[in-house]
Amino acid sequence: MKTTNNWTKSSWRSLPVLQQPNWPDENELNNVLQTISDLPPLVFAGEIRDLKNKLAKAVQGEAFLLQGGDCSEEFCRCTAPNIRDTLKVLLQMAVTLTYAGEKPVIKVGRIAGQYAKPRSSDTEMINGVELPSYRGDMCNSEEPDPASRIPDPARLLQGYNMSAASLNLLRAFTRGGFGALDKVQAWNQEFVKESPMGQSYERLAKQISRAMKFMHNVGFNTNTPQLKEVEFYTSHEALFLGYEEALTREDSLEGGWYDCSGHMLWIGDRTRQIDGAHIEFLRGVLNPLGMKVGPKHDIDDILAIIDRLNPTNEAGRITLITRFGAKDIEKHLPPLLRAMKKEGKNVLWSCDPMHANIRKTDAGHKTRSFDDILSELRQFFELHWAEGTIPGGVHFELTGADVTECTGGARQLADEQLGRNYLTTCDPRLNAEQSLEMAFQIAEMMKK
Ligand code: PEP
Ligand code: CO
Repeated sequence: MKTTNNWTKSSWRSLPVLQQPNWPDENELNNVLQTISDLPPLVFAGEIRDLKNKLAKAVQGEAFLLQGGDCSEEFCRCTAPNIRDTLKVLLQMAVTLTYAGEKPVIKVGRIAGQYAKPRSSDTEMINGVELPSYRGDMCNSEEPDPASRIPDPARLLQGYNMSAASLNLLRAFTRGGFGALDKVQAWNQEFVKESPMGQSYERLAKQISRAMKFMHNVGFNTNTPQLKEVEFYTSHEALFLGYEEALTREDSLEGGWYDCSGHMLWIGDRTRQIDGAHIEFLRGVLNPLGMKVGPKHDIDDILAIIDRLNPTNEAGRITLITRFGAKDIEKHLPPLLRAMKKEGKNVLWSCDPMHANIRKTDAGHKTRSFDDILSELRQFFELHWAEGTIPGGVHFELTGADVTECTGGARQLADEQLGRNYLTTCDPRLNAEQSLEMAFQIAEMMKK
C-alpha cells in the first residue's frame, strides 16, 4: 500500500543497501521474513507515541534520555539473570539521574532486538584465516569457523523470539513490582554494594525510601502506578531492513506505519546515506529515530537527512547521537550545534561517549577508558552550555554484569586486568559499578 511521497514499507528495496548479510538462499530468507510478518508486533504504536512525546520534552530540557545496553546482544545470554541485571543497572542509573540530577529520566534499553551489527569489512582475519565477519547473532555465529559464519535466515526468526522473550520479562519486571521505587535498594547488586559507588548509591536509595515513607505518613497514596511501575522502552539499530520491514505495521487506531520491532530505532554512522535504503525505510515509519553522527559527517548532509526524516520538524522524532571522541568533540560539536540552531531544527542532543574512544591494548583487547568516556561527556555538557543548546541525553554500552572490558573507574581497572572477565563479542561495555559511577558524575553535570 502506498502512502505519502511514494513510501511503502518495501520502497527501500529499489535503493542501494549497505551492511546486509550475504544470505546464501533467497527463498529461505523470504520464507522466514513472511513468517515474521505474520507474527504479532513486539511493541505497540501507542507506546511508541508515548516515547516520542517524552523525547519531545527532553528537547526542551524538561526530561533527560538515558539509553544503554549491550553493544551486541547474544542469544546465549538471553537469560533471566542477564536481563534482570541489565535492567537493574539502568534503573539504578536512572534513579540517580532523577534524584541527584533533578529531572525525569526516559529509560531506553539497547535491548530486546540489538542483534545486528555493522562491520567495517565483509571479512575478518582470525588466526591467519579469512572468515566472513560476524554481523550479530541475528545473522551468524561469532564462532571462528567458516560454517558458523555463513548467514542463516533462521536466526532472524530466533532473533524475533529472543526479543519477544526479553521484552516479556522486561514488561513483567517493570509492571510487576520489581521496578517500584520502594525496591530502589534491591537494585544494588551484591558485587557493587561494598564498593564506594555501591555505598553512595545505598545512601541515595535510603534518602528516597525515607522520602517515600514521609509521603505515605502525611497521607499521600504511594500505591500509584507512578511509584509502583516504571516506563521502560526498547531500542536497537535498524540495520537488517528485511527484518524491520516484516515488523512494520499500520496502526489500526490512528493510522500511520510503525516499525514494531522496538520503540526507538537508530541509524548507524555507516548506513545514513541520504539516497540509501536505510534512510528511505526509516522516513516512512513514525517511531522516534536516533541518528549516530561521527567525526566524518558533513553538516549539509546531516541537515538534508533531517529534512528527509522529519519534514514537519516534529520534536521527539530525531535524536542526534554524537560520537566524536574525547579528543575531537571540541572540534566537531560546536559547528553542528550552531548549524542546527540556525536552521531551527528540533533535535534532541544525546552523547555516545563510547564509539569514538576505542583503543587496543598490547594484549589485543579492544577497550575504552573510563576517563576518556567521562571526558567526552563533560565536554559535551560544557560545549552545549557555551552554545546555549540543551544536552538532553546519553547513550552507553554497558552491562549489569561484573565484566572487565573498559579500563579505569573507581577500581582503576588496568589493561592487564581486562582478561579476567572479558565477555563482549563486539565493543567493550562499562560494568555495573562503572556505569553507576558514570551516573553520579552525569547527575552533577545535569544540575548546572
Ligand atoms: C553501535 O552503536 O554499536 C554502533 C555500531 O555505533 P556507530 O554506528 O556509531 O558506529
Ligand atoms: Co558498539
